[in-house]
Amino acid sequence: MLNYYGRLSSEVYDIDKPIGYSFGDVEFYMNRLKNCKGNILEPGTGTGRILIPLLEKGLNVEGFDSSKDMLSICKSNCQKRGLHPKLFEGKMESFSLDIKYDAIIVPTGTFLLLYKREDSLKALRNFYNHLSIGGRLILDISLQTDMEIGIVSTRTWECSNGDIITLENKIVEVDYINQYTISHGRYEKWREGVLLQTELEYFPLRWYGIEEFKLILESIGFKDIMISSDYKLGKYPSNPEEIITFDAIAAK
Ligand SMILES: C[S@@+](CC[C@H](N)C(=O)[O-])C[C@H]1O[C@@H](n2cnc3c(N)ncnc32)[C@H](O)[C@@H]1O
Repeated sequence: MLNYYGRLSSEVYDIDKPIGYSFGDVEFYMNRLKNCKGNILEPGTGTGRILIPLLEKGLNVEGFDSSKDMLSICKSNCQKRGLHPKLFEGKMESFSLDIKYDAIIVPTGTFLLLYKREDSLKALRNFYNHLSIGGRLILDISLQTDMEIGIVSTRTWECSNGDIITLENKIVEVDYINQYTISHGRYEKWREGVLLQTELEYFPLRWYGIEEFKLILESIGFKDIMISSDYKLGKYPSNPEEIITFDAIAAK
């Protein structure tokens, strides 16, 4: 297994999508949670991009992540703002806590990183079991529209000290039967033309059909499932590029 949300990848995430950076999700989730007085959990919280604005609105959000590097950036981002949420290392498919949450949120494409079907089901069952009666799961997925093997994309970022980080990303596998793609991301950090650090990331991404995902949620026990797209509440998707949000109740 290659590196996964390692040091360079985490540093790039924080530069590229700083705290509060929104795909439309920060406002959408804030609005959906505004009356939530209880505890909220964000699995795969990353650098705190969305966790921190929610905390600053007065919501009781906790987060966990499987990447030590992401968590360490998240802790530092929280400390800089005088915030001290509960943050811990854990995996969506196996975390186990004594507490029940009023809401569990998984914005953007994080849930699609669980590319093995069994892991994704374990994670959804786990979310269900950690929700209080009537608690809500709000989770985003997106469709895969770009699945050509060998296509390479490159990007470059400048760090605050002038170092340059480059990323070359390539899709190396498309598994149509099991519904996932695997990309390799090659990160390199440069200072005045000298290579300081490099990292190869293994990046899987699963895809689902929209109605397929709704049926999966129902099979776990979720009720009153609402589908939104493009962060417009209740708008059924009409364009394959849109982010699709599922809002489901753990009726129990
Ligand atoms: C795309 S980032 C999103 C971060 C944050 N939720 C946001 O919206 O900005 C995905 C995060 O999920 C974490 N992650 C990936 N697989 C995970 C798993 N199985 N359990 C917990 N976290 C996971 C990664 O380490 C990474 O920090």
